[in-house]
Amino acid sequence: MRQIRKNNTNIIKRKFLYVCEYILFIFLGKYQIPAGTQYAILIYDLHRLGEQFVEPLKFRPERFQMEPTWHPYAYLPFSAGPRNCMGQKFAMMELKLTLSALLRRYRLLPVTKPEDIIFRFDYVLRVKDPIYVKLELRSEDKLNR
Ligand code: HEM
Repeated sequence: MRQIRKNNTNIIKRKFLYVCEYILFIFLGKYQIPAGTQYAILIYDLHRLGEQFVEPLKFRPERFQMEPTWHPYAYLPFSAGPRNCMGQKFAMMELKLTLSALLRRYRLLPVTKPEDIIFRFDYVLRVKDPIYVKLELRSEDKLNR
């Protein structure tokens, strides 16, 4: 069965929640989903699925080097398909450049505890209060001062 999906522009699209519409009927397991059905992919939950990710709630950056254990469509930070993020490669490059410039001089230490973070569902996923981190000069920089 060919599946065709379109993003529905008449309804609110949120990056933690993709809202889309099937324009052909499809089968999901034993269920037949009629054409025109609107469905949502809750990205927040998708990225925390235990059957896809090893210890999904744990900060394990090595998962991106050693695995992936997940299905290609189980990790969608930039969405997928023809309307995925056009700036994906640029955003990743910008992130790496900024972080490497920062980490070369500073050690980043946590202040806000993960369990104290309260999420707010806005156009994008936001946090209620600021997340604080402490920047500590790396020792070589301390000696040069
Ligand atoms: C970490 C940063 C970013 C994330 C997580 C992100 C994520 C996304 C996601 C999930 C979508 C699909 C939205 C939807 O279906 O409604 C999207 C679309 C888009 N993004 Fe990004 N984005 C990022 C940075 C950027 C940057 C830096 C640019 C431009 C320089 C950009 C340009 C776009 C454009 C033009 C679209 C619309 C594509 C289309 O509708 O055909 N994004 N982004």
